[in-house]
Amino acid sequence: MVTYNVSLANKVVLVTGAAGFIGANLVKRLLNEFDSVKVVGIDSITEYYDVRLKYERLQELSAYGDRFVFIKDSIAKKGVVDSIFTDHHPQVVVNLAAQAGVRYSITNPDAYIESNLIGFYNILEACRHYGVEHLVYASSSSVYGSNKKVPYSTDDKVDNPVSLYAATKKSNELMAHAYSKLYNIPSTGLRFFTVYGPAGRPDMAYFGFTNQLREGKTIRIFNYGNCKRDFTYVDDIVEGVVRIMRHAPEKQNGDDGLPIPPYKVYNIGNNSPENLLDFVTILQEELIAAKVLPDDYDFETHKELVPMQPGDVPVTYADTTPLEQDFGFKPSTSLREGLRKFAGWYAKYYGTFK
Ligand SMILES: NC(=O)c1ccc[n+]([C@@H]2O[C@H](COP(=O)([O-])OP(=O)(O)OC[C@H]3O[C@@H](n4cnc5c(N)ncnc54)[C@H](O)[C@@H]3O)[C@@H](O)[C@H]2O)c1
Repeated sequence: MVTYNVSLANKVVLVTGAAGFIGANLVKRLLNEFDSVKVVGIDSITEYYDVRLKYERLQELSAYGDRFVFIKDSIAKKGVVDSIFTDHHPQVVVNLAAQAGVRYSITNPDAYIESNLIGFYNILEACRHYGVEHLVYASSSSVYGSNKKVPYSTDDKVDNPVSLYAATKKSNELMAHAYSKLYNIPSTGLRFFTVYGPAGRPDMAYFGFTNQLREGKTIRIFNYGNCKRDFTYVDDIVEGVVRIMRHAPEKQNGDDGLPIPPYKVYNIGNNSPENLLDFVTILQEELIAAKVLPDDYDFETHKELVPMQPGDVPVTYADTTPLEQDFGFKPSTSLREGLRKFAGWYAKYYGTFK
């Protein structure tokens, strides 16, 4: 079982992407759970999706007073990252800032290079020069590309990305490995599997489906609904991140006297793939229960079952055995419970049906 070798007591934690969906939930959890932690958050508030959501997440975090310092700027600016490290000396860094999304990388590749590669490089350089106890960073399940073997395991080969987004995430793992080896920086990469929850990302399918159903539009369900995906509730992701932050890979030297890279990569997913059609059925039931949709909503006429999109994979889910073995933890929120919370939030935020 795990030994927690990084204490968060009286520490400064840098969270990049702090106004983002996972980032804001992580900051809240850290400030709630660890009384003496101070969090420095940076986010450039990109306009990839409605920025009001990001400002509202930050508004909630302002309740923690000076235990949370927010900097609205980009990690792609080396001077900005350097000054955060000289001014605040973070001992633990969680890099979540990134340009996310697979489709957007076709039309906006620059955003991925800037945030995901240059930004991450700046974080690595700062960790090298200022020294940190642990660097944790977001990778993605998209590194598995169109691998056929399921569940996806961190032992599988992931050399065939099928989007620029995936290529940048895989590059992050490679860059972190080099820095762990060269400068003995303990680093842990986390491959998240489809994260959902209240105040989540409007670009993701569950959120888009909800908007479309509410507007009376028809949603298109690919592969006739026979796709299986791992959907991971945001609180489970945050729980995993907090546990992992507190356990850095051990520094050790090899027979040659040089450091063995203190480097790890984990999957964080549900390890229980859900059929897409079941997923949308539960979603619409919960939207009706939350009064986002009327009681007599005719779901059958608002869904269209269509063939698979080229490049899509029918079943993807995470092998989470290493996470369970090392941390005694596995995401456990059921889809119904998670979607109920999302629907409840959506009803409050956008209003119930008129
Ligand atoms: N949500 C998921 O399902 C999922 C799945 C796999 C991986 N991830 C990864 O997890 C991380 C967090 O994802 P999320 O869902 O919270 O996304 P998000 O878009 O809500 O959060 C990312 C935040 O980073 C900020 N950002 C982007 N570029 C920046 C820059 N150069 N400098 C500073 N801030 C910048 C954005 O403004 C945004 O608020 C990302 O790295 C993402 O790639 C998420």
